[in-house]
Amino acid sequence: MENLDSIVAEARSAFASVTQLADLEQVKARYLGKAGLMTAQMKQLASLPAEERPAAGSRINQARDEIAGALEARRQALRDEALARQLAAEALDVTLPGRGRGTGGLHPVTLARSRIEALFSSIGFAVAEGPEIETDFYNFTALNIPENHPARAMHDTFYVDDGSLLRTHTSPVQIHYMESHQPPLRIIAPGRVYRVDSDATHSPMFHQIEGLWIDEDVSFAHLKGVVQDFLQQFFERDDLSVRFRPSFFPFTEPSAEIDMSWGDGWLEIGGCGMVHPEVLHHVRVDPERYQGFAFGMGLERLAMLRYGVNDLRQFFAGDLRFLKQFN
Ligand code: PHE
Repeated sequence: MENLDSIVAEARSAFASVTQLADLEQVKARYLGKAGLMTAQMKQLASLPAEERPAAGSRINQARDEIAGALEARRQALRDEALARQLAAEALDVTLPGRGRGTGGLHPVTLARSRIEALFSSIGFAVAEGPEIETDFYNFTALNIPENHPARAMHDTFYVDDGSLLRTHTSPVQIHYMESHQPPLRIIAPGRVYRVDSDATHSPMFHQIEGLWIDEDVSFAHLKGVVQDFLQQFFERDDLSVRFRPSFFPFTEPSAEIDMSWGDGWLEIGGCGMVHPEVLHHVRVDPERYQGFAFGMGLERLAMLRYGVNDLRQFFAGDLRFLKQFN
């Protein structure tokens, strides 16, 4: 009986030294469990003389209540601490400013492309697309550029494997379209093209707009009218003039470079010509009955001029300070 006080004191300090709720239950067993110290005390009652038992029993009960009280107090303290820790860790500072969400916008090349598509659609041109990975046949042979033709060297081609390559121009779309459509036909074909070329004015990937109009009596005069009208509308300038400089492309005859007036001088913006009869043969269109023109223009060049961009590389650098100006 004399050591009841020291058991209570020991239990208090044992509870106090526990820092995890789970450990507390183990410590509890040592004092209040079935095989614990207080149960042992109760068992000793039997060895006392009968008249001493009630007083001793009530002292033991009192000690056990004290221990249970100390346990409960410690349990509550540990719970409070855990909750306080969790609240501190998950605290939200509702006074912080929000992150803000930037608004997206279309890329200037996309803007130019949409504008071009709208202008050509308004005069009856359909928009066609073709694959960026092409076969040798569509990119070259069908366009009257046979194997070993020197014109292939001009194209600085990226080859994917023996039979396929990244298209070097949008002209192969002419072939795809004429294979699946009968004249009369009128299309533009915008898209990415690739060439082994990279400096301030060349990017290994860039965009072209192909144009094709095939019918029974389409002439070079139509070509000039369509191109000039398009450029005047695209740049919103009625005084803009167009000049055709004789040139060579295997898939057009005659061929020309398209120049347009800009400032005091002229700027080259693409190539064009009357579709070569050999090309029409490849897609089983009768050149005796049908003829027409094709042109190809650089989309970045048009976008640079319209939006006042002076370095082609800006288009592909992904710099938000540049891109945001078009939002
Ligand atoms: N495909 C030519 C090029 O990439 C441009 C062109 C298209 C020329 C159509 C004539 C007719 O340079």
